[in-house]
Order: sequence, then structure tokens, then C-alpha cells
Amino acid sequence: MSKNSIQIFDTTLRDGEQVPGCKLNTEQKLRIAKQLDLLGVDVIEAGFPMSSPGDFKSVEAISKLVKNATVCALTRANKKDIEVAAKALKHAKKPRIHTGIGTSDSHIIHKFNTTREKVIERAIEAVSYAKTFVDDVEFYAEDAGRTDNDFLAKVCEAVIEAGATVLNIPDTTGYCLPNEYGAKIKYLVDHVKGIENVIISCHCHNDLGMATANAIAGIQNGARQIECTINGIGERAGNTALEEVVMILKQHSNMNLDTNVNTKLLNYTSQLVQQSMGMYVQPNKAIVGENAFAHSSGIHQDGVIKNRETYEIINPEDVGVSKSSIILTARSGRAALAYRAKNVGYDLTKIELDVLYPEFLKYADTQKEVNDQDLHQLLSSKDNFKKSVNF
Ligand code: KIV
Ligand code: ZN
Repeated sequence: MSKNSIQIFDTTLRDGEQVPGCKLNTEQKLRIAKQLDLLGVDVIEAGFPMSSPGDFKSVEAISKLVKNATVCALTRANKKDIEVAAKALKHAKKPRIHTGIGTSDSHIIHKFNTTREKVIERAIEAVSYAKTFVDDVEFYAEDAGRTDNDFLAKVCEAVIEAGATVLNIPDTTGYCLPNEYGAKIKYLVDHVKGIENVIISCHCHNDLGMATANAIAGIQNGARQIECTINGIGERAGNTALEEVVMILKQHSNMNLDTNVNTKLLNYTSQLVQQSMGMYVQPNKAIVGENAFAHSSGIHQDGVIKNRETYEIINPEDVGVSKSSIILTARSGRAALAYRAKNVGYDLTKIELDVLYPEFLKYADTQKEVNDQDLHQLLSSKDNFKKSVNF
């Protein structure tokens, strides 16, 4: 892996699928895993095999199916979980066990009723045990976002020594500010012995709407893997959205950081996950929302018709959307009306446009949106408007 390559770890089928209402059957999970492999993600977190027989079966089936990506299974820091995960991953070409434990004082005191020292012991034991099954072991320090940096560094150093290949630093509760999360990663880079031999991973939640910004801050400070989900689904307010981080890196090419993702498949993959889970994104969702490439105000429409780049920083074709859309509303101008009329077969002259525009506005004021059907009716009511193309 080059220093400039960012590994995309997709957890749609684990952190995403654990969301209420998003449960999938094995067949649906296989369809999504196949698509993620095609999309070019580096790691597919297929599930938490110990959590249920159904999840075990899915991880096993995904392990047999996936051709390119590493297949990863989640465990808690205990032997039984690790044994079950190893069994589910038996057929994977590139298996990874993802084990870990809470490291914040809140988790240590309230969840485990134990001490920092005991948590380090359990972390070492879990990683060492996982290493007896697979070479690739990722360790997560749950609630790292609220873990004291000095203690977190001690935990990281201990698990690296035990054989961890990837260190996941989750902002489990989505609490960190981007500069705090970035500084946490930098602290680990500067203070943990052996960290240069492992990959640091960002796993950020979106409770305060900062999951994407935090993941980017993480990689700007030395992390080289981002854990994310299609459409940003995940516990509570969700996780970092895969399509967002991938497109941020693509559009900001001066960062010199690349992923292996084929961005042209992003829109289709998003649709597949939405439909399979019945969890639909809001229209203004970045990259994959229905309005992500739609322009409705007259000023913007005029600009986009003259040159797309006036109001679009992403070429829709780059994410698998065939073109930008010019939406007709009461805020649209003449340029948009002429453009859409042309699309339905009428090449209007200036005089025709002058006649049509006030009528269009009157009608548009009564509607949320003027569609092609409405436009046809308006245009065909004008006997002397000639159709330039016959459909
Ligand atoms: O948010 C989190 O901390 C997690 C871990 C289990 C990796 O999902
Ligand atoms: Zn999570």
C-alpha cells in the first residue's frame, strides 16, 4: 500500500445493518457484498458472527463469495467471539478479525466495572488469540474519541506488540470536533512505538453531523483507512458516508490521496442499499440524494446551462448520474424554460419564449414543480408553436 493510498473499509453490512429496520437476509447481504467488491472497497465488514446464527451464516457465505476485498468479522474481546468469527471467515481469501474493547473511563467504569490495567490485559489477550487464527487483526478501542490520549497510546502500543495490523480509533459517540479528532490521531502517530508498521483507521459516528469531517481530519493527520457505510447509515445518526469521503478525496486532488473505488458505481450502489434496506436518503443528501445535481433557481439554471461548472463541483457522470437536472419551478428563468422546452421537442424563438414565460410562471405558482407532461400541455396549447422534433 502506498503512503498516498486510503483504504476504504465498508461497514454497511455490520454497523449499517444493525440499525433498526435495516435488517437484511443472507441473499440480500450477498447481493450488496458483491456490489461492494465491484465498487472497489478494500475491506468489507460482513457482520458480527457471534451475534446470531443468521449473521454467522451471512459472514460465511460472503467469505466464499468475495473475490477481491478483505472480508472482516467483528468480535468482542473474548475467546468465544474470536473462535466463532475465525470459523465464519474460514473460506475468505483475505480474512480479518476485528476485535476490541472500550477504552474510555466511561466504558471501563460503567460497562466493565474494571480498571485500565485489566482493559490492556484483555486487549492483548484478544489480539494474541485472534492472531492464532488469522494474520490480519484489527483492534478497535471503543469510545477512543472520549479516551484520554495518554492511556489510548498505551493501549495502542500494547496491541501493536501483540500483533495488531490495523488500529481502529472510533469516535463511537460522534462527540469529537474535527480538530480534536485530528489531534488525537497525530498524538498517536507521535507517541506510539511501532505505529509506523500498522494502519490507523478512522471510524466516526455522526451524532453531531461531523462524521465525514472527522474522518477527513483523521487522514490529514496520518490515518490511512476510513471506516464508512453507503449512504452514511449506521448506529443512531449513522457513520461516515462512503460516497462523501471518496468524492472529497477525488475532488481535492491536491491532497494526493487516492482510493480504489470506482466512483461511477456510487449512485447505483446507493440505490441498491436504499432499496434493499428500505432506508431512503433525504433528497439533499450529498452525492447520492435526488437533488444532488438538480438546479431550480433561475440564476443557477442560467449559469449551469451556460457552463455546468458554474454551480457544480462534481460531474454527475463521475458518480453514475447521467446528467444534471434543470427543475422547473416558479423560481426558474427563461433560460431554463427554453432548455426544458427543447428537451421535449420545441426549439422556441425569442418571441415564443416571451409569450410562454408569463403563462408558465402563472402555472408554476400553483405547482411545486412543472414536469414534462405539464410543459407539453402548455406548449401544445399554442397552435402556432412548431415542434422541432417529432417524438
Ligand atoms: O462505533 C464503534 O465504536 C464501533 C466499534 C465496534 C468498531 O462500531
Ligand atoms: Zn460504530
